[in-house]
Amino acid sequence: MNATIYSERRRRLAALMQRGVAIIPTSPERARNRDSHYPYRFDSYFYYLTGFTEPDAVLVLIAGAQPSSIVFCRDKDIEREIWDGFRYGPEGAQQTFGFDVCHSLAKLDETMPDLLADQPTLFFAIGADPAWDTRIVGWLNKVRQRARSGVAAPNQLSDVRVLLDDMRLIKSAGEIAVMRRAAQITAGAHQRAMRMAKPGLAEYEIEAELLHEFRRHGAQGPAYTSIVAAGANACVLHYVQNDAWLKDGDLVLIDAGCELDGYAADITRTFPANGKFSTVQKDVYQLVLAAQAAAIAAIKPGSNWVAPHDAAVRVLTQGMIDFKLIDGSVDAAIESEAYKKFYMHRTGHWLGLDVHDAGDYKRDGEWRELKPGMAMTVEPGCYIRPDDKVPEPFWNIGIRIEDDVLVTDQGREVLTADAPKAIDEIETLMRERAERVPKNANRTHRGSGAGV
Ligand code: GLY
Ligand code: MN
Ligand code: MN
Repeated sequence: MNATIYSERRRRLAALMQRGVAIIPTSPERARNRDSHYPYRFDSYFYYLTGFTEPDAVLVLIAGAQPSSIVFCRDKDIEREIWDGFRYGPEGAQQTFGFDVCHSLAKLDETMPDLLADQPTLFFAIGADPAWDTRIVGWLNKVRQRARSGVAAPNQLSDVRVLLDDMRLIKSAGEIAVMRRAAQITAGAHQRAMRMAKPGLAEYEIEAELLHEFRRHGAQGPAYTSIVAAGANACVLHYVQNDAWLKDGDLVLIDAGCELDGYAADITRTFPANGKFSTVQKDVYQLVLAAQAAAIAAIKPGSNWVAPHDAAVRVLTQGMIDFKLIDGSVDAAIESEAYKKFYMHRTGHWLGLDVHDAGDYKRDGEWRELKPGMAMTVEPGCYIRPDDKVPEPFWNIGIRIEDDVLVTDQGREVLTADAPKAIDEIETLMRERAERVPKNANRTHRGSGAGV
């Protein structure tokens, strides 16, 4: 735990605020059913500024004052610690995380009106959680009730995310090191999936291999719900059921990434269930790979956010025309958006603490300029559903290839390069499997096999 990284971030945020108070709560625990909870995940902004991973905590940052970093957190509680585990308590948290002051969360409501009094601006993630909106308005009203004693409430409200998103967009060396490791673990998981895939397995059996690989390397879990989509399922962009069998001749699309110490990786690979691409699968795959190469080449300092997308769309559109999936010239098909029938999503997103990370894509009406330290995904695809106007051999081919890319001083670094994506690399890796077709290779229905 390097407390200095986080105190330096708080110092930078306070400098950007100039004057005023920021209130940044972490996420609540969320019930799944009755008294079971979802695995706890802290709020990314709160974590970015504190490194503190317990629920029920709030950071109050006061610009230009001492104390500046005030954290409210859970008290020590031996009874609860026997059931749920260790808690720092205010004293432990203050010492370990280097906050200026730490109080019991029970003191929040009585302390906040004092901290807000005579401050010009309140910085807060407005509308992120209606319960916090209401609670904070209650504190502001408490301050206003004291108006006759000469105390004023903040008269400006500013969304703290505007400042924090810009900070989070440029990754530090420490963040990049964690992201590189998350990318490596995830690349290993995709290799493992390719090695074990074969007709007759269920999608969930492959999902289990991904999870195994994430956890055995210390990642806390998946950064988002893993997609393991065989055959026609690969054309469903957010397919997460993962309960169908892999069939001979299917392509398998896996979109899965781990979360390591808060940071996400996000990789998609597509490969043949039987280990060998058919001719038409190979043609479409090569097209998506070429589109991805063009997009990655467009990433460098001074380029802009939309350049990789535009490069991918141009390559994909030409390919769709060559395959006679759409008609006309490339320019006309881009203009009319005819390509969207087979490529309907964008080519990437920022990546970091959130898989779709913080940060604007446009600034003052212009696409964001790329700068060293920005991290993004590059994920072109092509999804061909059964359709009378499309030759049948193309039906149910769904391909996406996704890598995580860091903008560097020289150009770019592909963090996920260890996940194989060239056709010969994939086929070679899959040939290493001991046994390709098990006895139950002809299972065709979905579900657990128990008479679904
Ligand atoms: N896995 C989410 C995405 O690719 O954007
Ligand atoms: Mn993805
Ligand atoms: Mn993605």
